[in-house]
Amino acid sequence: MVSLATSTFSRNLCPRPSLPYAVRALGTTLLRLHPKPTSWGPLSSSLKSCSAHFSASNFKFSKSPNETLGSRDDLVVLGIETSCDDTAAAIVRSNGDILSQVVSSQADLLARYGGVAPKMAEGAHMQVIDQVVQDALENANLTERDLSAVAVTIGPGLSLCLRVGVQKARKIAGSHNLPIVGVHHMEAHALVARLIEKDLQFPFMALLISGGHNLLILARDLGHYIQLGTTIDDAIGEAYDKTAKWLGLDMRRSGGPAIEELAREGDAKAVKFSTPMKQHKDCNFSYAGLKTQVRLAIESRNINAEIPISSASSEDRSSRADIAASFQRVAVLHLEERCERAIEWALKIEPSIKHLVVSGGVASNQYVRAQLDQVVKKKSLQLVCPPPSLCTDNGVMVAWTGLEHFCMGRYDPPPPANEPEDYVYDLRPRWPLGEEYSEGRSEARSLRTARIHPSLTSLIQASMQQQS
Ligand code: KG4
Ligand code: ZN
Repeated sequence: MVSLATSTFSRNLCPRPSLPYAVRALGTTLLRLHPKPTSWGPLSSSLKSCSAHFSASNFKFSKSPNETLGSRDDLVVLGIETSCDDTAAAIVRSNGDILSQVVSSQADLLARYGGVAPKMAEGAHMQVIDQVVQDALENANLTERDLSAVAVTIGPGLSLCLRVGVQKARKIAGSHNLPIVGVHHMEAHALVARLIEKDLQFPFMALLISGGHNLLILARDLGHYIQLGTTIDDAIGEAYDKTAKWLGLDMRRSGGPAIEELAREGDAKAVKFSTPMKQHKDCNFSYAGLKTQVRLAIESRNINAEIPISSASSEDRSSRADIAASFQRVAVLHLEERCERAIEWALKIEPSIKHLVVSGGVASNQYVRAQLDQVVKKKSLQLVCPPPSLCTDNGVMVAWTGLEHFCMGRYDPPPPANEPEDYVYDLRPRWPLGEEYSEGRSEARSLRTARIHPSLTSLIQASMQQQS
């Protein structure tokens, strides 16, 4: 278990409240929580009026708002993340201090199966969730009674895994009469950048690159996103992981870091891989074809993944390193090309954009950062990359995003203290962040649309329209 306690970042949280109504984050009911704010008042006063209206729901706040919420710099939120294979919890204060951060990763399972098996991942989350949350509280020198709210990832992700985190969050919130905020995992990857970069105001762009997602978004406001591009098949992290597995690399830290390390020894021009989707002048991604090219290259060189890289001959090792470097060059070139076009599109919609945020597990890669830095400089923008521990899945991003929404009055009241074990939670395994940019629609996209939840942006927009 990795346990980090940091308090180096400091940032005032509360943005100008531009979305006047609250969305019940964990349910689908939209509640009117407070009247349109006329000026940027202190958070506590806007939240005060929010909570006063909770009588409309099944639950009521029993504490007075002042008792519950404190001043706006003093809000303390526990964030819980279990959407994939990391069990994470963290405590963040609304002034930006990270009071604790704990991550338990399923490294052994990942190494054994070369990927995430949902049922095993669920079991692993269940084994450690209590300890991870307890460590987060202890490292912060706090108890549940000191918390202002609990934030938890409700999607997208693996249902079985999401359920473990949501159950834990609701148990804590129910026992301690705390409000609860349901968080969108990809929004959290993007917004954590606002915790570390004081100047990062809306609107900004974000490239979110992880094991399950490749997203290019224009973040116009909190909860308001335009999707400029997404993957039509696999995400870049999946391509890194499969390449690492086929090259016989040590997967214990996941495939990405292993490829990044080996690629440093290789010749990135040695193997000619073609860049995906060259003929499609849009901002979508595809990594399935590149994966196939890599597999064929490995087969044609008779590389045996059963022989770990540590036991490979020097000739074999250098052949594997060439493939790793060549794969990485083309995988990242695809990102560069899409980002360049997306920046042009985004600047047409929002000419005031100054930043491109790059986040998600793959954003911890130094080569990715360096290449994308060149792209943004060419376009006179600034690159914002959270530190690696905040790029990969973590509880800080969930706590911070929970805080951002909490400040705007978007949260659920405390669940009942004795919620039954078989309660059906509102989990959103397939949950888009925003609506697709209409001019960027691609014929190449053939995404399954079944069982997709309405996007976060559309839910928030609908609630605003309902109230206007
Ligand atoms: O965001 P994340 O922790 O979990 C998901 O939401 O998927 O991302 C995990 C992905 C994995 O595919 C992993 O191989 C990749 O991020 N990754 C990297 C690096 N570190 C993690 N990929 C490339 N280079 C890295 N240094
Ligand atoms: Zn992630």
